[in-house]
Amino acid sequence: MKTIRTLTHVLLISSTFSLTAQPAMRGPLPDEQQEIIAEMAKRHQDLKRAVELNDKGYTATTTTTDKALAAKLKAHLKYMAARLDSKAMVRRWDPAFVELVEYYDQLDTKITELDDGVKVGVIGKNADAVKVAQNHARIVTGFTKEGAKAVEREHKPALTKDAAENGSKKEAEPAKPEAKK
Ligand code: HEM
Repeated sequence: MKTIRTLTHVLLISSTFSLTAQPAMRGPLPDEQQEIIAEMAKRHQDLKRAVELNDKGYTATTTTTDKALAAKLKAHLKYMAARLDSKAMVRRWDPAFVELVEYYDQLDTKITELDDGVKVGVIGKNADAVKVAQNHARIVTGFTKEGAKAVEREHKPALTKDAAENGSKKEAEPAKPEAKK
């Protein structure tokens, strides 16, 4: 009996250690995050987004007059930034996101929380990373324009010749602010 108890103890301790040793955020998104994404997709028309592409990447400001939705957007950014920092995957079935995760350490991302939303500045450390960053900006714009339809579909990675299909030609041009009502 004592041996069994000791063994259980050892197993418990080792599983506790292996849990803490692993990257924290692997696995499916927590329910709370899935609910936030579903809500943002549903209420995409309440999100206003302006994107400026530049030589080094992009800046994007996404806001809403609804305080609760703004809080959810901030929570989304905080979670996703921490998840990508921990090198955990997101949307592994969507090639553009697999590519984003692969290039994340080649991006400098600055997130500024605003009262009514978030401002994000992303700089790519090389030409490919710039393309990956801008592709992601277009995809997020698609989420805010189309909601669930865009969230459900796959997106092309940036480093293919037809990645511009992820967004309108207009938005692929640099330094054109684009606002959404
Ligand atoms: C399954 C769906 C989604 C996933 C996996 C996802 C994932 C991500 C990831 C990985 C980032 C990058 C964070 C960083 O760079 O540190 C991000 C940023 C962002 N996401 Fe999502 N997202 C999803 C849906 C949405 C939806 C539906 C919206 C809004 C309608 C949204 C709005 C944003 C915004 C505004 C940013 C900041 C980047 C930017 O402004 O260009 N996301 N998301």
